[in-house]
Amino acid sequence: MPERILVTAALPYANGPIHVGHAIGCYIPADVYARYHRLKGDDVLYICGTDEHGTPITVSAEKEGVSPKDVVDKYHKMHLEAFKRIGVEFDNFSGTARPQHYTLSQEFFKKVEENGFIHRETVERPFCPNCNRFLPDRYVKGECPECGAKDERGDQCEKCGKQLEPHELVNPYCTICRNTPEMRATEHWFFELSKLGERIAEWVDSGKVSRNLPNNARNFAKGWVKEGLKDRAITRDMSWGVPVPADGAEGKVLYVWFDAPIGYISSTIEWAKEKGDEDCWKRYWMNGEECKIVHFIGKDNIPFHIVIWPAMLMAHGEYNLPWQIASNEFLNLEGRKMSTSRGWVIWLHDILKEFDADAVRYYLLSIAPESSDSDFKLDEFKERVNNELIATYGNFVNRTLTFISQKKGGIVPNPKEFDAADKKLVKFIETQPDIVGDAVDKFTLMSALSKMMNIAQEGNKYFQMKEPWAKENDTTLYLCANLLRTLAIVSEPFLPQSAEKIWGMLDLAGAVHEHSFDDAKKLEVEAGHQIGKVSALYQKLEDDKIKSFAEKYLHAKKEDAKSDVEMVSYEQFSKLDLRVGEIRSVENHPNADKLIILKIDLGEMGQRQVVAGIKQKYAGQDIVGRQVIVVSNLEPAKIRGIESRGMLLAAVDEQDAPTLLKPDSKIKNGSKVA
Ligand code: MF3
Ligand code: ZN
Repeated sequence: MPERILVTAALPYANGPIHVGHAIGCYIPADVYARYHRLKGDDVLYICGTDEHGTPITVSAEKEGVSPKDVVDKYHKMHLEAFKRIGVEFDNFSGTARPQHYTLSQEFFKKVEENGFIHRETVERPFCPNCNRFLPDRYVKGECPECGAKDERGDQCEKCGKQLEPHELVNPYCTICRNTPEMRATEHWFFELSKLGERIAEWVDSGKVSRNLPNNARNFAKGWVKEGLKDRAITRDMSWGVPVPADGAEGKVLYVWFDAPIGYISSTIEWAKEKGDEDCWKRYWMNGEECKIVHFIGKDNIPFHIVIWPAMLMAHGEYNLPWQIASNEFLNLEGRKMSTSRGWVIWLHDILKEFDADAVRYYLLSIAPESSDSDFKLDEFKERVNNELIATYGNFVNRTLTFISQKKGGIVPNPKEFDAADKKLVKFIETQPDIVGDAVDKFTLMSALSKMMNIAQEGNKYFQMKEPWAKENDTTLYLCANLLRTLAIVSEPFLPQSAEKIWGMLDLAGAVHEHSFDDAKKLEVEAGHQIGKVSALYQKLEDDKIKSFAEKYLHAKKEDAKSDVEMVSYEQFSKLDLRVGEIRSVENHPNADKLIILKIDLGEMGQRQVVAGIKQKYAGQDIVGRQVIVVSNLEPAKIRGIESRGMLLAAVDEQDAPTLLKPDSKIKNGSKVA
């Protein structure tokens, strides 16, 4: 029975390019899932679009000195191109600044208000007197009230995931001018999430959904509900966004996270209009349980999709609730967290300039951060592509087609009677596609990928064992051609461009994506069929290429220092008591290789014991008698069991080795450093 499935991927902000972490966070997994279900003959739509509102956009626009619309147009186009190249194929890719999205969002708001889930309230909000405006979301930064993380944004703490309101930040500052904001009264509209806690908890646990929701998401939601859901402001004082449809709401727009998910619906409506069947979007959004809505998202979007968005839908009352929320964790890069501001990132459009799209898809899917964060490594990219994609998949394709082409004049031979190994292979063809499909349906794409690769592996084993170069080979080549067809169909969701190329080289009718996944289980390449022209699928990745890619595209801005350094006030700085001291004795730390224990003379302040990690650099040097700079009022601490009362200042060289600082000329011990 064909199913009806609406697949969505988190609407990407149109304020910067897509990086490989985003790509595997949700866009590629959703694409695999959608492609698989298209092949299964399901009624599936893959819907997305750019998230064009909110402070991420306006802050970018201000930084680039252009209008929000310019930013949005630029990145919308860029996203589309990158997605196209990597083979992420949406049925519709809209944008939330389009008129029909405004209309729908306003209607949505009014309906939720009518249903009694919205109220207005005058509240205090940070206002920058210098910039003369309120500071919504990303315009204000400060410390997270929950975990104390510094420099967190006013909407969500990246460290602990806590949902924040801008006024909750401790020690807030204006991100444009760094002034301290003052609090001013302003009127806002609140979504009464507090009324929906029970229903959310019930929904999250209800038979059908709970089977589908991943544990991390379910537990998160339940924890949050238990804490008590609070009403949330869903409007902001700014001009870029969907105007609040209410009297007295001039200068206010809907909060981006209120209108953005509605974009899933408005993009579906746009699709229906373009199709010329205005109402057909309703069969995805309004038909009760008939449609499975599957939201693919990255980890940071969990709170919004597992609690707030379903609550919005409940409050509205006319749309289907999500059936599944598939979320991946984060992708690191060479062992470090990816960071746009630090330039520690691989942009999708860059990697696609240099490498084959399917090679990138293959590697990303093979390291998908499904159950924990994972790590993108260029060397591993090379290894996986060379040793798996090329050595297994490419090899089976190539040896089968080349052999038929060279030894059989390109004609698929007539099989003889099947022996045990042949029969086993036929059985494999009949069963393996479902094994792959089941893994896709369980959202375990890494495992699905490796089960797909088993097909090529089995093919190689069979080919090797049959030794067609030495033995009678008609049956072998007939079955290899058929297994190759199976491989093309089954790999289409994962490696769409390769699959089409194989199909073309086999010269089978139509395109592979027009076929049915279940057909992959049949032997449909007939004896006597003439295959097409054969060429290599991929190019081997060489060290040089990887190296030059890294040099060209991957450089962290020199020492994370500049852009992200945290500001301290003079008042904070002046709390440090820095003194000149003199080393009196040096002793090895009994429990640590890199540490030494120093006695330091601070003149009138007496003698101090300090444990310092400078042994490597200073081992064997006599540093007794040398002057150093000491942070004298650091809280005492035990370092590997030894008390330390202070810290030495040192400069860190390129190898991370410390070089002790000292006064330019000898000065009295205990002198203050200012
Ligand atoms: N733009 C958001 C992000 O990139 C995701 C929005 S998802 C939607 O994190 F549900 F709001 F559309
Ligand atoms: Zn300011």
